[in-house]
Amino acid sequence: MSLYAIGDLHLHFQTELKAHIQTKGVWKNHEEKFRKNCEKMIGPGDTLVLLGDHSWGKDFPECDADFQYICDLPGRKILTRGNHDMFWDVKKTQKLNEKFSGKLKFLQGDYLPYEDVALVATKGFTFEGPFYLNGRGQITGWDEKAEERAKKLVEREALRLLEGLEKARKDGYRRIIICLHYPPTNILERESAFTNLAREYGAEQLLYAHCHGETRFYDSIMGEHRGTEYSLVSGDFLRWKPMKVL
Ligand SMILES: [Fe+2]
Ligand SMILES: [Fe+2]
Repeated sequence: MSLYAIGDLHLHFQTELKAHIQTKGVWKNHEEKFRKNCEKMIGPGDTLVLLGDHSWGKDFPECDADFQYICDLPGRKILTRGNHDMFWDVKKTQKLNEKFSGKLKFLQGDYLPYEDVALVATKGFTFEGPFYLNGRGQITGWDEKAEERAKKLVEREALRLLEGLEKARKDGYRRIIICLHYPPTNILERESAFTNLAREYGAEQLLYAHCHGETRFYDSIMGEHRGTEYSLVSGDFLRWKPMKVL
């Protein structure tokens, strides 16, 4: 049995894309590349965690074919929430689990077991600017009002992560892997509410997605940091090959 993770499939079988970035380079036929990689790597006893931004669909009918594609991938599939998942209001998590019972698991502000490990997931959040740059490309300031708004969202998401961590701890789990959609820190930070929780609860790994394109890949922490291993698992970063987590 193995555990795999990847994020940001951004499927669009039924959605007309406004931007055409998804038709070029690493994104060209990415659904096909990803499906082939999954079929090569993942067996029926394995688990695949998809870390948000599953579909461009605005509502359920627009996501139908995208969900069918995900259901047809090998292994047990766990979906966590991304900022583009318009079909997934946080209050609808239970309904989604009922609708896809036996096929997909939707995980938000909670945990699911993988062997003796608790996979704890929430969307997360981080301040992404706008940042103001000087002529040499150095950051000289940022939109402070937007930063204030972001702080509230970070607090709310940290609370949701805490709820999941507490549940896992109460149920006796000692091994923790945290799954966020947003990176745990922004480009100016080394610590955040999320890195503090990872340390406090002794998370062995923290996985995140959301950062697309080479200019964004190194926005946050990668590798070992205060006892936790941090990994970016966005699909284009992994070139559509799911990362083997365990
Ligand atoms: Fe994304
Ligand atoms: Fe995202």
